[in-house]
Amino acid sequence: MKEKVEEILSQVLDFQAESKEALENFRITYLSKKGIIPALFADFKTVAPELRKEMGMKLNELKNVVQDKVDEQLQKFESQGSSEAGFDMSMPANEMRGARHPLSIVRRDINEIFAHLGFTIVEGPEIEDDYHVFSALNFPIDHPARDMQDTFFINKEPNVNKMSDILLRTHTSSVQVRAMENSQPPIRVIAPGRVFRNEAISARAHCIFHQIEGLYIDENVSFADLKQTLYHFVQEFFGEGTKVRFRPSYFPFTETSAEMDISCNICGGKGCNICKHTGWVEILGCGMCDPNILLSSGIDPEKYSGFAFGMGVERIAMLKYGVTALYLL
Ligand code: PHE
Repeated sequence: MKEKVEEILSQVLDFQAESKEALENFRITYLSKKGIIPALFADFKTVAPELRKEMGMKLNELKNVVQDKVDEQLQKFESQGSSEAGFDMSMPANEMRGARHPLSIVRRDINEIFAHLGFTIVEGPEIEDDYHVFSALNFPIDHPARDMQDTFFINKEPNVNKMSDILLRTHTSSVQVRAMENSQPPIRVIAPGRVFRNEAISARAHCIFHQIEGLYIDENVSFADLKQTLYHFVQEFFGEGTKVRFRPSYFPFTETSAEMDISCNICGGKGCNICKHTGWVEILGCGMCDPNILLSSGIDPEKYSGFAFGMGVERIAMLKYGVTALYLL
C-alpha cells in the first residue's frame, strides 16, 4: 500500500489541468466518495498496527496535496474566466482623447497675442467691493449698473456707504483699478476672468461669462496706440484682412470712449443673422483712461496717459467658431 500511495502522490504532484472540466474530473477521481483517496482510507483498516502511524501521515499528505492542487488550479481558471468573457486586463486602454473647451482656447489665444506685445497677465478677485467695481471707476451712485437688477450682491448694508457693499464683479475693469493701485507706469496688463450679471439667461447670454480686460499706461499713450493695438489683435486673431471700425460710446471711466466692431467673419461682411445683416459685429468696449481715474488711483495724469479695453470671451468664441447659441435652453 505504501508504494501505491507514493506512486499516486508522484502522479498528482505533476498534475496540470488543461481545462476546468479536466480539473473537475481530477477532483472526482481522487476526492469524491467513490474516488481513490476515500478508497485508500477504507483500506487503512487492513494496515498492520505498527505501520499505521506512517501510513496515516502519508495518506493525509496525499489528500492535502490533491485538495491544494484542486483549489489552486480552480482559482487560476476563475481569474481567467473574465478574459474568456472578453476582458483582457493586460490589453492597452482604448484611446480616450480630451479636448480643450473653446472658451479656454480663445482665452489662451487672446492672452498669447497680447503677451507678444509685452502685456502681462494679472488676475483679481471675483468677489469684490463696490469701490473697485464701481466707485473707483466713476460710476455715479445711482448708475443703473449698481442696481440689484444688474448686480449680484453678497452683502448690501442698507443706509451704509455703498462703497462697502460686497458683490460679484460685473466686469473685469475692477482689475484695472487694482493694477493701478499696485504699480506705477509703465503698466501693460491684461486681466482675463469670470464676471457676473444678474440678467435673464438666454441662448446668447448667461449670468456668468468671461471677459478680458486690457490696460496700458505710459507717457504719451494716445488713441492711435489704442487703435493700432486692437487692430493688430484682430488681424492676429480673426485673420488678416478683417476690417475694424470704432464707434463713439460712453463708459464712466474712459474719455474718449468707443466700441469696436469687426467685419462679420461669418458672412464676410455680406450680411447674415449673426451680424443682423449689417456686416459688422461689436466685439469690445474701449477708451482713453479718464484722468480722474488715474488721479484717484495714485497716478499723475499730467505725466501719464493710458487706454483700456474690455472684451467678452463668449462673444469672440461665437464669432470665431460660428456658434449661434451659447446655451441650449
Ligand atoms: N468694462 C466694460 C464693460 O464691461 C468694457 C470696457 C473695458 C470699456 C475697458 C472700456 C474700457 O462693458
